[in-house]
Amino acid sequence: MSTDSFNNDSEFLLFTGCTGLLGRYLLKDLLQFEIPLAVLVRPTRRQSAADRVESMISTWEQQLDQPLSRPHVIEGDLSGKSLGLSTADEAWVKTHCSSVLHNAASLSFVSGPRDAEPWKTNLTGTENLLNVCRETGIKHFHHVSTAYVCGARQGTIYEQELDEGQTLCNDYEWSKLEAEKLIRSAEFLETKTVFRPSIIVGDSENGFTTTFHGFYAALQLAYVVAKGLKELPGDHEDLQFRVTLDGTEDKNLVPVDWVSSFISYAVSQPQLHNQTYHLTPQNPVTTQTIMNVLTAVNETGDFTQLVGSETRVENPNEFERMFYENMQVYNSYWKNDPHFDTSNTREAAPHLPCPSMDEDRMMMLAKAAVDMEFRWRDLPVRAEASITG
Ligand SMILES: NC(=O)c1ccc[n+]([C@@H]2O[C@H](COP(=O)([O-])OP(=O)(O)OC[C@H]3O[C@@H](n4cnc5c(N)ncnc54)[C@H](OP(=O)(O)O)[C@@H]3O)[C@@H](O)[C@H]2O)c1
Repeated sequence: MSTDSFNNDSEFLLFTGCTGLLGRYLLKDLLQFEIPLAVLVRPTRRQSAADRVESMISTWEQQLDQPLSRPHVIEGDLSGKSLGLSTADEAWVKTHCSSVLHNAASLSFVSGPRDAEPWKTNLTGTENLLNVCRETGIKHFHHVSTAYVCGARQGTIYEQELDEGQTLCNDYEWSKLEAEKLIRSAEFLETKTVFRPSIIVGDSENGFTTTFHGFYAALQLAYVVAKGLKELPGDHEDLQFRVTLDGTEDKNLVPVDWVSSFISYAVSQPQLHNQTYHLTPQNPVTTQTIMNVLTAVNETGDFTQLVGSETRVENPNEFERMFYENMQVYNSYWKNDPHFDTSNTREAAPHLPCPSMDEDRMMMLAKAAVDMEFRWRDLPVRAEASITG
């Protein structure tokens, strides 16, 4: 791949959110394309920013059986003024960085005041990053938004649309909408490129994932429920598990490796900048397919029943109560998705079609998550290994 927009030492891409699910794929792809990279990472209680990055790249090297180069690591937190950068780091950014790929976000769906998540990272954090760009002369901004800035709109959603007066379904969507508006209004930027993925799931080839939101939350709950049902003593023929969907609702699931391939490609091609891209599938998955997968993986065929989207579960049994209580945070997504038009995406990269999300692939993704026991941890770096023995 050509990396036309990255020619010399003063053209680093400042990249946020490399430790997340999409971020780790972007990190691998951007490193493989030899794009000069600086990553903004916050430390954890156990690991420095540099150790976190090292740990993740070592894991990739083992999986790929191939060495990767290392990015320049900058310790910082989006929610801090000036991202909490040291004076030296800010000077480094000013000398070396010409563009940003802003992928970091809080995926908290809980409502909160503006100084709490998801607002703190998604809106204030974006504002802080824009301020750093203004101060350091960065003029090219690539932003990972979400297809769900469309909120509760139905019908066809076009890539050029943003604020159509829609109702937002939760604070996450609202904070992402406000962040996108903020970027679009930043007049000092020369290009603003926006990527809007729909629901991201694991790797289309092997099902690998490191986070377990959305589809995986339903899968994990169904897994727990199925285990409980199977362990019930005696005959339980009357027992049912009612699902308040009719099976025809569409859900837009996209594999993380494809989302990353598209973004890395578009970032490396200047002629594709300054555009908005819906990163959504050609064919959505129906809730019937999702149910088939959940039922097959958990072997709960005899119990589950689609009872229609307008139905309320009366007198829920203990399994239904547990499931619906824990799925509450996703209530706004328990419905049909709109249709996302993808004209810009298809035209920009006809050689990168989204892998089809059929029942076989969904089964593979679900089995991979169950095999991982809904957990993931990178290889420890040497320093941490010696602490933990
Ligand atoms: N997952 C989806 O289904 C989906 C769908 C559409 C759009 N998106 C968008 O895609 C992007 C990546 O999502 P993801 O699923 O990869 O999320 P993720 O796995 O939760 O990763 C989030 C990343 O953001 C970083 N981050 C969060 N708050 C930060 C802060 N205050 N300062 C610095 N870094 C911070 C996290 O760092 P730590 O490791 O330190 O926490 C992590 O690297 C986000 O912009 C999200 O809105 C996601």
